[in-house]
Amino acid sequence: MQFLLSALSMVSVSLLQGLASDTPEQLLGKMTLEEKIGQMNLYASEWDLTGPPPTEGSNADKYEHIRTGKVGGVLNVTGADAARRMQQLAVEGSRLGIPLLFGYDVIHGYRTSFPIPLGESSSWNLELMEQTARISAIEATAAGINWVYSPMIDTFRDPRWGRVMEGSGEDPFLTSKIAAAKVRGYQGTDLSRPDTLAACAKHFAGYGFPVAGRDYNTTILDGRTLHNIILPPFKAAVDAGVRSVMNSFNLIDGIPATAHAGLQRDLLKGKWKFDGFVVSDWASIAEIAVHGAASDLRQAAQRAILAGSDMDMESFAYVTHLAGLVEEGLVSEAWIDDAVLRILRVKTELGLFDDPYRYIDATREREALLRPAHLDLALDAAIQSIVLLKNATNLLPLDKDAGKIALIGALADDKDSPLGNWRGMAIENSAVSVVEGFRNLGVDFTWTKGVKLAMNPGKMADLVNVNTTDRSGFEEAIRLARESEVVVMVLGELGHQTGEGRSRADIGLPGLQQELLEAVHAVNPNIVLVLMNGRPLIIPWAAENVPAILTAWHGGSRAGDAIARVIFGLENPSGKLTMSWPGSIGQIPVYYNHDRTGRPDANPSVFWSHYNDESNEPLYPFGHGLSYTSFGYSELQVTPSGPRTIDVAVRVSNLGQRSGTEVVQLYLTDPVAQAVRPVKELKGFARVTLAPGASTVQRFRLTKSDLGYFLPDGSFTFEPGEFILTVGPTGTLSQQVSVSD
Ligand code: BGC
Repeated sequence: MQFLLSALSMVSVSLLQGLASDTPEQLLGKMTLEEKIGQMNLYASEWDLTGPPPTEGSNADKYEHIRTGKVGGVLNVTGADAARRMQQLAVEGSRLGIPLLFGYDVIHGYRTSFPIPLGESSSWNLELMEQTARISAIEATAAGINWVYSPMIDTFRDPRWGRVMEGSGEDPFLTSKIAAAKVRGYQGTDLSRPDTLAACAKHFAGYGFPVAGRDYNTTILDGRTLHNIILPPFKAAVDAGVRSVMNSFNLIDGIPATAHAGLQRDLLKGKWKFDGFVVSDWASIAEIAVHGAASDLRQAAQRAILAGSDMDMESFAYVTHLAGLVEEGLVSEAWIDDAVLRILRVKTELGLFDDPYRYIDATREREALLRPAHLDLALDAAIQSIVLLKNATNLLPLDKDAGKIALIGALADDKDSPLGNWRGMAIENSAVSVVEGFRNLGVDFTWTKGVKLAMNPGKMADLVNVNTTDRSGFEEAIRLARESEVVVMVLGELGHQTGEGRSRADIGLPGLQQELLEAVHAVNPNIVLVLMNGRPLIIPWAAENVPAILTAWHGGSRAGDAIARVIFGLENPSGKLTMSWPGSIGQIPVYYNHDRTGRPDANPSVFWSHYNDESNEPLYPFGHGLSYTSFGYSELQVTPSGPRTIDVAVRVSNLGQRSGTEVVQLYLTDPVAQAVRPVKELKGFARVTLAPGASTVQRFRLTKSDLGYFLPDGSFTFEPGEFILTVGPTGTLSQQVSVSD
């Protein structure tokens, strides 16, 4: 037996050496139809291959399929040992020995946890976001992963949708820049290096627009929104060389995205010349039939492959039906060849044919995870993600010696929630809590939970079981608040209260936290409210009554240290919101780059576009975020420096007493257009750090791609004429300019 095994592996190794010198085209020529279809099949591993192989149930089939070349990739295999055995099975077991891809949802870190993407996007710091992707890749590749399902670059406008935590907000320009930065960070400049991996831009397309914010719901999209708001980040990812794209669960105009030839074949692979591969989302091929767009799994497989879905994640549709569809002439083998070539190309670029174990290194796995430098970066990212929403009377920063401090809130002591959802292989309860962050700074404080957030925090199944009855901790919280000069309250959402399938219809403070806040406020209104959250929360009462509010999101491994350092002034907050915070549910969707109506102006009658009982403005708009210093803008110069080109210069000054970082934002307004343009659109931004009293001139150049837009049919147009440029974030300085063709 032993002899047989090693003979087998010698055969496979020599075969593999043969494959290494093959081009993907040559390799394709050696493959049977069944082997080709195998490359298009992606399984989730519900078992780790560290013990004997499964012998019954669907896992036994999967095992057999891997061993016989019917699988191109596996997701959710974690750890170098398990990955090695799984890879061995494919490489040494199957006839051609083609190595597997190992995919994983590394959304904001592998073991070291960075802030959730919506939080991190608030830093507007592209180098930082590239760097956190780089470190995530270094950690993930050591553990066998060579493909991540990230970046999630859906744009969205509805904070009820739980997946807003995974993305970069409502703006296509900023999300596009972040998309490219993330792709660079994951893939580097050489994909074959053992510490770079293939990225996956998702979800193509429109998944961020589910009606009423309910996950997996249908979308109602017009062509302008699709082409100007949703698609640009995907184009940016493709231009940055992303090697894979994941499609999505939703319908677009009645067609499941997974079966959408217009999007996948014509636009992505045709017009944009994307030469990587498209992977379906989890069972999204099977869901074509569930939607009612195919009569059964077989027809769903046919629609998906014809539409350009190259790899089937967990639908079992391709592996079961594609061969039959080809034999009956319902699917041309040319489509299969195209899909397989795309997949083989990426495997070649990853260097898997040179060494299928390139990414599997148990020694590096032990050494590369949670390096001190990674945790330092996690701290930096968490600090830069914090957004100071309100700071009346300059209550912040606190002086740790200025009086008694009470810390209140279950989340203050929570070492798990800061890791957020989609937390990769972060270790449960491993984040620095706020209590620990305060202690690490030597702060003297009293603390109590005040109220339990869930009856059984940390258990996914208990998410619906939010505490709405147990007020037994109120008394102690009120007592501590009464005895203190200042109260820091840490309130918000548990780490698993946002994310996939976590849509919420009420996005106020969950459970009894609002009641606790008001009870504490009644005895001591000197409150710093620290929010931990995965989405914008609706907090009108706090916005009116609490003097200082900051959002720290789910801030990752070092969240508590970051929060403490900002509260006590060791760091000056610089984050700016990338998604508008509504004042009430009824305003949703509320977003900054909306169209102008025909009746925008307030007048004494009721016949203008407004609510009778609510403002039109969000509670905190896109781009908002305060600092412990203040910045001034002056000397705006807007020059039409050539056809279709505008140069902008503006002086930014630090007017306060502390050094600080400002995110300078440049907005464009196109007042008259064939298809109406939004009231304003972000077209440039820069982070500038200034010492007290210092100033600098920030310059931007806008060209045709910034000044034009997509018509509903997807064609790009530039219309010369008047434009208005505004610099912000407060947007007080603006200038009109005329641009020629
Ligand atoms: C999600 C994807 C994810 C995939 C694999 C799906 O449910 O929509 O974003 O990459 O699962 O875990």
